[in-house]
Amino acid sequence: MLLVLDTTTDNKQLSTDNKQLSTNNFQQMNTSQRIIVALDVPTLEEAIALVDRLDQVSFWKIGLELFVATGPKILEVLKSRSKRIFLDLKFHDIPNTIAGACRAASGYGVDILTIHATCGKDALKAATEAVQAGAAMAGVKPPKLIAISLLTSISSRQLAFDLKIPLELPEYALEMALMAQQMGLDGAVCSPQEVVQLRQTCGDDFLLVCPGVRPTWADVGDQKRVFTPAQALHSGADYLVIGRPITASVAPELAWERICDELVVNT
Ligand code: C5P
Repeated sequence: MLLVLDTTTDNKQLSTDNKQLSTNNFQQMNTSQRIIVALDVPTLEEAIALVDRLDQVSFWKIGLELFVATGPKILEVLKSRSKRIFLDLKFHDIPNTIAGACRAASGYGVDILTIHATCGKDALKAATEAVQAGAAMAGVKPPKLIAISLLTSISSRQLAFDLKIPLELPEYALEMALMAQQMGLDGAVCSPQEVVQLRQTCGDDFLLVCPGVRPTWADVGDQKRVFTPAQALHSGADYLVIGRPITASVAPELAWERICDELVVNT
């Protein structure tokens, strides 16, 4: 796969057009635009400082830590800088509550939103409908709704012994992704180690977003099912989510550039 690197991304060229997320024509998207950086910091001030320091990053993931601390303020900050937004709130609740949460979150005009597949079919279906309704009410494009198949911090051993799931881990992740697809979701979050199988089964139009990405020089931390960025892209991931290897680095911009450079060399 030939990928062209452009680390001097012009924000004005960035489009929140969902076509970019659905056509799967990712060979034409430059490598840096396929990396979503997880903005896992505790305060709005730290978040803004990092976003401004890493101006080349076009796609940011807002997770529970920052959203609980700042609410939608951080989304406004990112929008004012023309960034794409992955709102990773990992909803997990009963269908009625899920629907309300998805309606509200879709009104923010974000690009991607997450829900746990283990909410079950009724909640997944309610979520898909609520995403459309919430976006329409707010007059914005609906986000891509994607399901967490299995957290990348869970190992095969933990799946079997702690969660008491009798399936092999790859089969379980696949079943969760297939259920999400059947309920009309746009894609799944999975480990890069599961991408080949999910891609083969779910097809090219199913968005596969992968955390659990670690360059060889970075700490694995609490992640269990990891691949390097190049391995993850080769496997067929649409987007890579990378947090601490960049954001916890003493020189985040150098870590970002190193990852982008390694991707050019290895893809
Ligand atoms: O710092 P690190 O690269 O491990 O960050 C990974 C990010 O992806 C975190 O924000 C985490 O919440 C998120 N995530 C994950 N595994 C999933 C889904 C999301 O690690 N299955």
